[in-house]
Amino acid sequence: MIDNSQTIQWFPGHMAKTRRKISEQLKLIDAVAEIVDARIPVSSRNPELNEIIGDKPHIILLNKCDMADDAATKKWIEFYKSQGIFAIPIDCKNGKGINAFKDTVKTVLTDKLQSYREKGMVGKPLRVMVVGIPNVGKSSFINRIAGGGRAKVENRPGVTRGNQWFTIDKELELLDTPGVLWPKFEDKTVGEHLGFTGAVTDRIMDTELLAMRLLELLILLYPELLKERYKMSEFPEDSYDALCLLGKKRGMMIRGGETDTERAAAMLLEEYRNCKIGKITLERVEENA
Ligand code: G4P
Repeated sequence: MIDNSQTIQWFPGHMAKTRRKISEQLKLIDAVAEIVDARIPVSSRNPELNEIIGDKPHIILLNKCDMADDAATKKWIEFYKSQGIFAIPIDCKNGKGINAFKDTVKTVLTDKLQSYREKGMVGKPLRVMVVGIPNVGKSSFINRIAGGGRAKVENRPGVTRGNQWFTIDKELELLDTPGVLWPKFEDKTVGEHLGFTGAVTDRIMDTELLAMRLLELLILLYPELLKERYKMSEFPEDSYDALCLLGKKRGMMIRGGETDTERAAAMLLEEYRNCKIGKITLERVEENA
């Protein structure tokens, strides 16, 4: 087991300004589309967002689903549905699920559209604020949905300067997050999980420690994928020993017959992040909801 006194140090997130900015813009929008990382749907959320947006209609976009476990993604979608939140899987790398977004917005805002029709307000576009923590794929999503000719509209009357609006078509406009939404950095597990995916840089944490934690989790959740990838038949109980074995299997040895654990750690993280071990979800409904 790992010595728990070795914790990862995080810089504190400054949320007050963003919270204020988002609150100010809420009156201008009809719904909030929150992008999360399908591999870590808990850690990739901002812990205060639900409270900030209150009862604004809310859609969750489970992004990077090309790298997540499909069965786990399906369970998350069912879970959100049980909470009254619409969620869809998307993959901004290949464009999967992007087309479903607009229909989902319309479904979520059915009542609003009906009331527009009744009031004769035809042609009024729906406005959606897109939010997400850094690296979750917000820019990729906006680029995908707005296509090549992404129409950026800034400084429209009555709208705070610097806000980024995107006209998708005559029915839909998107507002990029005003400010930076931070994850719950102060939570050690959140920090580690963001470290696994590469959402935060390795330079501020110990690579070997991070890899050992990832290995513990993979042994618990996806032992078969690990066995297949690294030709392992069993896993030592101690995660440092497991990392040594992994390195040994790849011939990462140093003088004296010991394993180069630093190289093994870097290799494991790189292979996990590039989906070489398989489609993996590290946070599942069963343990987190
Ligand atoms: P942000 O605006 O929320 O900060 O995130 P951004 O779109 O810049 O995406 C962060 C990284 O995640 C980028 O990779 C991007 O390509 C990747 N990404 C976004 N969506 C998806 C997805 O659905 N699937 C996969 N596999 N990757 C996704 P990068 O390595 O930082 O840059 P690059 O590879 O695009 O050069």
